[in-house]
Amino acid sequence: MPDEPQPAELQPMPDDQHATAERYRRFSALEARGASPLYERLTAGVAADPEVLALLGELPPDKRQPNLLLAAARYVTGTPSGYDDFRDALFDHRDAIVATMLARRTQTNEPARCTALYPLLAALPQPLALLEVGASAGLCLLPDRYAYSYGDHVTGATDSPLRLRCQVEGSPPPRFARPGPITVAWRAGIDLNPLDVTDPDDVRWLRTLVWPEQQDRLRRLETAIELARQDPPPVVRGDLNDRLGELASQAPPHATLVVYHTAVLYYVSGEGKAAFEEQIGRLGCHRISQETESVLPHVAARLPRRPPADTLMYVLALDGRPKAFSAMHGGRLVWCSP
Ligand SMILES: C[S@@+](CC[C@H](N)C(=O)[O-])C[C@H]1O[C@@H](n2cnc3c(N)ncnc32)[C@H](O)[C@@H]1O
Repeated sequence: MPDEPQPAELQPMPDDQHATAERYRRFSALEARGASPLYERLTAGVAADPEVLALLGELPPDKRQPNLLLAAARYVTGTPSGYDDFRDALFDHRDAIVATMLARRTQTNEPARCTALYPLLAALPQPLALLEVGASAGLCLLPDRYAYSYGDHVTGATDSPLRLRCQVEGSPPPRFARPGPITVAWRAGIDLNPLDVTDPDDVRWLRTLVWPEQQDRLRRLETAIELARQDPPPVVRGDLNDRLGELASQAPPHATLVVYHTAVLYYVSGEGKAAFEEQIGRLGCHRISQETESVLPHVAARLPRRPPADTLMYVLALDGRPKAFSAMHGGRLVWCSP
């Protein structure tokens, strides 16, 4: 063991710092590239910066995510101009940024993810009872309040102030190809920490979770928040496994109950996921999942083809059967069928 402290770059990096560095490298190359040049640079910088990795190593493992660090830094100090600016802000305001990371969660609520849900919802018997687990502020609980365009096919609430555009690749199965209207008889969400569309701090956090440069996403979020404020979707606080049965029992029996989740099970332990699968099976409802391949391996095992290699996409599945790959922030669907 050396007696003297060594410069950080000469010290062996602990295994979990290697894992964090790899996570930031992957985020930079697969998620941020092509979507946010600033986040691509910042996360590549973190991946190569032993001191920032050491700072992250002091946080609980579930608080080391790129999106959480980047949003907390911007929430406290504004959007940096580049890596050096980001790093200075991080160490100058370390306590406030760490406090924000510990107090907040990555709760990106992206209404454009409804572009993937919508064709599947429209193919189910109407009216629908929507139950979203991990609903954040509930903006994906309002798929009937948005308009959609899939190429030349415009559908949904065509007079809505929010028009969600979706690029479609591959051949959709006929029942999903030109989705018609949906009717929602009931809706409810569950979240560990519901965000309130009428609370200015929650709205500021939601805005900060949108990546820099993505002005379209920001406008979309603001329009969806305005719509949600007119009649906020009910989202109850709690763990998805604790509240699912109780909430599902409130759905009107004449409606088709569909439980769905996007970008949620990544945060749930293996045991939690197994309990969730069991509950879904017992409810005998429909289920739409929009999660990355590694999160639901039994769904991924049924994929008839590999996902596009250029970017990370969710696997969109209905009742455990993969139907398409969907872009992480919505707006692109690649159907699994050739
Ligand atoms: C990345 S956000 C996605 C929000 C929304 N589904 C969307 O796609 O816009 C994940 C959400 O899942 C929630 N969450 C994570 N684990 C949960 C659990 N065990 N029970 C309920 N909600 C959970 C988080 O609080 C967060 O709001």
